[in-house]
Amino acid sequence: MNPIKKIAVLTSGGDAPGMNAAIRAVVRAGIYHNLEVNGVMRGYQGLIDDDFIEMKSNSVSNIIQLGGTILKSARCKDFNMPEGRKIAFSNLKKHNIDALVVIGGDGSFAGAKILGTEFDFQVVGIPGTIDNDLYGTDYTIGYDTALNTVVEAVDKIRDTASAHSRLFFIEVMGRDAGFLALRGGIAAGAEAILVPEVETDMEQLENFLKHGFQKKKTSSIVLVAEGQKAGGAFTIAEKVSKDHPEYDIRVTVLGHIQRGGSPSAFDRVIASRLGLSAVEEIIKGNSKVMVGVHNNEIVAVPFAKVFKHLKGLDARLLKVVEVLSI
Ligand code: F6P
Repeated sequence: MNPIKKIAVLTSGGDAPGMNAAIRAVVRAGIYHNLEVNGVMRGYQGLIDDDFIEMKSNSVSNIIQLGGTILKSARCKDFNMPEGRKIAFSNLKKHNIDALVVIGGDGSFAGAKILGTEFDFQVVGIPGTIDNDLYGTDYTIGYDTALNTVVEAVDKIRDTASAHSRLFFIEVMGRDAGFLALRGGIAAGAEAILVPEVETDMEQLENFLKHGFQKKKTSSIVLVAEGQKAGGAFTIAEKVSKDHPEYDIRVTVLGHIQRGGSPSAFDRVIASRLGLSAVEEIIKGNSKVMVGVHNNEIVAVPFAKVFKHLKGLDARLLKVVEVLSI
């Protein structure tokens, strides 16, 4: 007999394209397994504010293609306090919720882990962040779509950079990680990428750019991850411009455009697979785990392991940039 009768799902932290596809999958997989499903509005804030909604199969019709999240999202400070979590738990009990699915990034999972530990409550996480910075999964929901957005934008900037023989510094998201900058840089043929994981050597960068100009390159593009230690795109551009006033430099910050838009087919598929797996993990009785995808297989990784390890950049991809950008 399955002791789980009713589950809830929420989206938390920075939204990511494909979150709706994941919500749809959780709701439909839950119903398939004869569970009742509630949605919680605005992440942990909705748990505290008692903002629960009943989800039926048709509540998630026609959303797989939509960016954003129909459940809305928030970064909830009150949930960091024990009093806030107590209210959240009592609301979960009030609605007879047996288990909670949290779609979000590391901050959201940290909240889920505390909730699970403090109240011995069943929680399962689905990785949803454009940053792709979660250990234990090769891909997070939203990363592929954001990557395509970056590449499309950089391609357009390349046109004008090339027309004017300019050097562009383009800042992409990634507070702590350079996944978008690295893969985006390879796909868009960037001359260099600057990421938080690798120390930036300004002299080396400037020599490299100089070499490009001497070879009469018609444009140069440097992708800068926002969390890069030597500063954002504007800071780096200023440093280079001081040493090389002869360069025609421009800066573009891609910003939140990277978080929006219709999810790619890839994101829709992993979101659908992960949503189903999250419900299966709940039925199996597992808790405080993140479902992820590794080598195209679905895996369940304990939160403790997700937090303990840092997901490093693939050194082979860093080499690709180095070799191909000569
Ligand atoms: O979702 C993660 C992220 O995209 C980071 O790369 C970025 O620093 C952050 O969100 C910005 O989020 P917000 O503007 O919502 O605080």
